[in-house]
Amino acid sequence: MDFYVTCLLYLSLSLLFFVFWKKRVTPRLPPGTKGWPVLGETLEFMAAGRSGCPEKFVNDRTTKYSSDVFRTNLYGEDMALFCSASGNKFLFSGDNKYITSWWPESMIKIGLFQETLKKLDAKKKRSFLSEFLKPEALQHYIPVMDSMTRDHLATDWSPHKEVQVFPLSKSYTFALACRLFMNIRDPKIVSKFANSFARVAPGFMAVPINIPGTPFNRAMEGGKVMRQELLNIIRRRKMEISEGKDANARDLLSRSLLEGDDDGTIFYEMDASNKIMGLLIASHDTTSTSITAIVNYLAQFPHIYERVHQEQMEIAKSKGPDELLNWEDVQKMKYSWNVLCESMRLLPPAQGAYREATTDFTFAGYTIPKGWKTFWTVHSTHKNPRYFPDPEKFDPSRFEGNGPAPFTFVPFGGGPRMCPGKEYARLEILVFMHNLVTKFKLEKVIPDEKFIYNPSPVPVEGLRIRLLPYN
Ligand code: HEM
Repeated sequence: MDFYVTCLLYLSLSLLFFVFWKKRVTPRLPPGTKGWPVLGETLEFMAAGRSGCPEKFVNDRTTKYSSDVFRTNLYGEDMALFCSASGNKFLFSGDNKYITSWWPESMIKIGLFQETLKKLDAKKKRSFLSEFLKPEALQHYIPVMDSMTRDHLATDWSPHKEVQVFPLSKSYTFALACRLFMNIRDPKIVSKFANSFARVAPGFMAVPINIPGTPFNRAMEGGKVMRQELLNIIRRRKMEISEGKDANARDLLSRSLLEGDDDGTIFYEMDASNKIMGLLIASHDTTSTSITAIVNYLAQFPHIYERVHQEQMEIAKSKGPDELLNWEDVQKMKYSWNVLCESMRLLPPAQGAYREATTDFTFAGYTIPKGWKTFWTVHSTHKNPRYFPDPEKFDPSRFEGNGPAPFTFVPFGGGPRMCPGKEYARLEILVFMHNLVTKFKLEKVIPDEKFIYNPSPVPVEGLRIRLLPYN
């Protein structure tokens, strides 16, 4: 009998020890699912975007698992998706403490964040960009933005009764970036560049399978052509600099060449080309979709258009007919900026950003293991009724006074990695709005035209707009 009691006691103690030990050493991972082998939940994530409702992916899982953070698997990576304002705050302040920058393999292979650019920490990257994007430099871009918008509207909009806004805004923002980043003015070079570029963006979020015919393969090929073109431009510019003939000291290309350490190798040139390529990609889809989205809402809501028109006409009347916009004029565009913010809340140009856990850390009682990826996304807060009552309503007054609660409106991210191009984008889009509403009244040809995410918001018919002269 004693033998049986001893055995039972031994077994119970072992069981207790096992349960206790397991509880101590097994981290409490965020709830959720890893999805399918290899693909994880990537297809569901993409499908939600393509259906025009990217927040569905987040909402379905916050309802089922947790409103703070849930587990998923995207692009073959274990991932914790943070889904609240406090989650955004936590990630924005975690850089170099418990997380670091990370991008999906497809983006790195195509050339968005090539190894050289990826390895730069936020501080170094900002020092490379700060000269180009600092307020004194930005002030000089406003007249260029204004004159290029005037020319663009005169050539590509005014002669027509109806336009397709999305392709036009893509070609305009690309031409502007070529001019301001590299002082490229020749339309032939711009359009050659633009053609290869058009193949690149759709591959960013594609499954990285490099077989002819796949979006990823087309993007890889487009990326190669672009990089070669950039190398040619860089070599020409290096020659001009060495011969003292460089008249472009202010542009990004000359700055990045003068700042770099030229060791005479291809790596130095590749480094400069990667930096320019990364910036073209970071700025292009975001600004072109922002312009498209704002035209969409201005055409859809005449009462909002009317107030923007009034604000911009007051600025226009205070200037001579050929006088270009300046810094002070843009600071007066307060209502227009609120309208733009509301447009970015409902149709956010960038979806969020990835990071990698550099150590195990805990959030909301869950452990995120070292090596896991994290994702913060605009889709967890921008349309959340907890932060934005009646979230589908277009209401720029949300941005009056103190505006939305901190970390809820995050189109540009936050913390040390917040988009360094925010001010550049603000100027570019406000200058465009000024020229647009002082010249045209707008009507949507397809009143309920849908936007899908690919990965930025894209109007399915290119946004067809009827133009009416403003009398
Ligand atoms: C409406 C326009 C734009 C939006 C909504 C936008 C949004 C964003 C977002 C969400 C990020 C990721 C932040 C993070 O990692 O947490 C980002 C990064 C970045 N953006 Fe923008 N962006 C815009 C325009 C631009 C422009 C015009 C430029 C350049 C002139 C630019 C350059 C960059 C760069 C270089 C990064 C990477 C920064 C880093 O990793 O430290 N962006 N942007």
